[in-house]
Amino acid sequence: MTDRALQLISQANAEVEKHQQKVQSDDYRLGFHLMPPVGLLNDPNGFIQFQGVYHLFYQWNPFKTGHGAKFWGHYTSKDLVNWTHEKIALAPSDWFDKNGCYSGSAVSDAGKIKLFYTGNVKDENGNRETYQCLAESENGIDFVKKGVVIELPEGYTAHFRDPKVWRHQGDWYMIIGAQSEDLQGKAALFKSVDLLEWQLLGNVAGSNEGELGDFGYMWECPDLFSLQGKDVLIVSPQGLEPEGILYNNVYQSGYFVGQLNYETGKMSHGPFVELDRGFEFYAPQTTVDEQGRRLLYAWMGVPEQAEDQHPTIDFKWVHAMTLPRELVLVGERLYQKPVDELKQLRKNEVVYENEVLTSVTKQLKHVNGDQLELVIDFHRNEADTFEIAIRDEARIIYDKSEERLTLQRKSFSDRDRAVEARHCMLSQLRQLRIFLDTSSIELFANDGEEVFTARIFPEKEKKEISFTAVNGTTEFTVRKWDIR
Ligand code: FRU
Repeated sequence: MTDRALQLISQANAEVEKHQQKVQSDDYRLGFHLMPPVGLLNDPNGFIQFQGVYHLFYQWNPFKTGHGAKFWGHYTSKDLVNWTHEKIALAPSDWFDKNGCYSGSAVSDAGKIKLFYTGNVKDENGNRETYQCLAESENGIDFVKKGVVIELPEGYTAHFRDPKVWRHQGDWYMIIGAQSEDLQGKAALFKSVDLLEWQLLGNVAGSNEGELGDFGYMWECPDLFSLQGKDVLIVSPQGLEPEGILYNNVYQSGYFVGQLNYETGKMSHGPFVELDRGFEFYAPQTTVDEQGRRLLYAWMGVPEQAEDQHPTIDFKWVHAMTLPRELVLVGERLYQKPVDELKQLRKNEVVYENEVLTSVTKQLKHVNGDQLELVIDFHRNEADTFEIAIRDEARIIYDKSEERLTLQRKSFSDRDRAVEARHCMLSQLRQLRIFLDTSSIELFANDGEEVFTARIFPEKEKKEISFTAVNGTTEFTVRKWDIR
């Protein structure tokens, strides 16, 4: 390791040390989500299961709760539930990554973890340069940088980053988030036989590619994989305008289902579908684990969306990861299911079978708290709306005649804490599964058909949860577990 790397790493470690007490004293520290030890966390990176151990790296700025020259922080786990914070994997210490070791991915090859990431560089005039870089590790903990493998090809601006690498029929492929010179968002595909020499095949998909019209000025964090015989392209486009209940966040994350032609490098695909309907979800990354599951983590945040307004900033940290989710294709739709391992966290089961609510609000004894899982199975849904009020901070509302599911919360960026909402269409409500952490909510409807992810910042004392059937009867069974 270079002196510069050692110096940056020791400065980052000192920052963790210095603010540890402050960070830990925050009541909004999450109970069962991954967070930065100090500073800002954004994208999940390098997600892989290597020799039985899950590795999840993350974009990390240890020095402030804003963006900057990112490090790769590193967590490992044997079960996706209990995680160990490892030493820093990558520091922005070299000429090719001095302004940030930006997002990327991991593969296992020749007994090593190989990381591909974007070296972000600003020249002396502040102009951006971008390099796709390689780093390797034999033990999965100590990484050695191998330098630049891809320089910016012609036809693209320097917004060219976030390599995701996979193997297909003996060859390696890399997809990169890009902006073409005419300022359209694209996903560029490369091919390699040795992970060192890369050949550009072209754009897999993009704004004004194929059947797709205008679709944003930049595509970040692409991910491409096959699932149940189809190909899925996940991407985070920037520059989509809101369309009714769609695209209401500052930036989006979603997917296309179709077929990639590995010869031409083009993907024929259906429409873009948002992965998550909530307020905070961005830059998801997947991996396939040793059981063959396609697993996803995402950043529980959105760039430039009130990032500087989070109350945790007073405690020197900001943002977290979502829970890990397993992806399943049902027709052309991606379902997200919390991984089974999370059931290990369940404590103190409380069950109410066949609760009948007719035009009334009800609290159920012991169904409350600040770290819990709730599973609600609906047997009868005749009320005009069914609502769950959570800790006086968030509300889940199902409107039967509109066939619409809503998550409301009190805004944390607005001083009057006005209520804001996100929605999705849902023709039938069969189940709600809710993971509530001290300052987050993840809501899975109908076994992962729709998901809402959001940060919420309730008052500490407020732990009530209530159920309301408006104008009619709802009958359901609810199971609740504390998560400790
Ligand atoms: C997405 C992103 C990536 C980039 C990284 C920098 O949130 O902007 O495109 O690599 O964050 O931290």
